[in-house]
Amino acid sequence: MKRLAILGASGHGKVVADIAECCGWGEVVFFDDALPQKAMLKGWPIVGNTQAFLSSMNDYDGCIVAIGNNITRLDKTRYLISSGASIISLIHPTSVVSKYSSIELGSVVMANAVINPFSKIGLACIVNTSATIDHDCQLLEAVHVSPGANLAGSVKVKECTWIGIGASVNQCLSIGKNVIIGAGSVVVNDIPDNVISVGIPSKVIKGSI
Ligand SMILES: CC(C)(COP(=O)(O)OP(=O)(O)OC[C@H]1O[C@@H](n2cnc3c(N)ncnc32)[C@H](O)[C@@H]1OP(=O)(O)O)[C@@H](O)C(=O)NCCC(=O)NCCS
Repeated sequence: MKRLAILGASGHGKVVADIAECCGWGEVVFFDDALPQKAMLKGWPIVGNTQAFLSSMNDYDGCIVAIGNNITRLDKTRYLISSGASIISLIHPTSVVSKYSSIELGSVVMANAVINPFSKIGLACIVNTSATIDHDCQLLEAVHVSPGANLAGSVKVKECTWIGIGASVNQCLSIGKNVIIGAGSVVVNDIPDNVISVGIPSKVIKGSI
C-alpha cells in the first residue's frame, strides 16, 4: 500500500488528502507543526511535525505540502526537496490535463480543472477546483489559481501570486509576483509585482503587500 505524508493539516490539506485517495494512495497521514494541539484532521491522523517527518521520511512513498499560504508552501517544499524528501504532485482524475502541458513537483490540480496544451505549471502551484488554464500559459512557483478562475491563452503569472475565486485574466497578459487578484475580478492589463488588484476591469487598490 502506497503511503503519502502531507505537511499541513488545514482545510486545503483535507482536499489534498481526498485527491490523494482518489489517485490511489492507500494510506494518507498528516504532519503539522501545530502538533500536539491538533491530533486528527477528520479521519486522518496527524502523526508529527516537520522534524518528525524528516526523521521518518523513508517510511513514506511520497510527500506534499498542503499549506494555503503561497510563500510558506514554497519555502517548505524547497526545504523538503533539499532534505531529500520525495515530493509528488497530485492530479484529480476528473481534471483534464493536456499531454503537452507540464506540471512541476509539489503542485495539485483539483477536480474539474483544465490545463490546455503547452501550459507550464511551476513548483508547488495550486490549480483549484474547476479553474481553467488555457494554452501556452506559464505559472511560476507557488501560484494559486482559485476555484472557477479562468486564464486565457499565453498568460504569465509570476511566483507566489494568488488569483481569486472566479477571476478571469485576458490573453497574453503578465501578472507580477506576490500579487492578489480579487475574487471575481477581470484582468485586462498587465499587473505589476506586490499589489492587490480588484474589480471589473481590475484596478490596483493596494501596493507593496
Ligand atoms: C482582494 C481581497 C484580498 C481584498 O481584501 P482586503 O485587502 O481585506 O481588502 P478590503 O476588504 O479592505 O477591500 C478594499 C476595497 O476593495 C473592494 N474589494 C475587495 N475585494 C474585491 C473584489 N474581489 N472585487 C471588487 N472589489 C473588491 C472592497 O469593497 C473595498 O472597497 P472600498 O474601499 O470602496 O470599500 C479580497 O477581497 C478577495 O477578493 N480575496 C480573495 C478570496 C478568494 O478568492 N478566496 C478563494 C480561496 S480558495
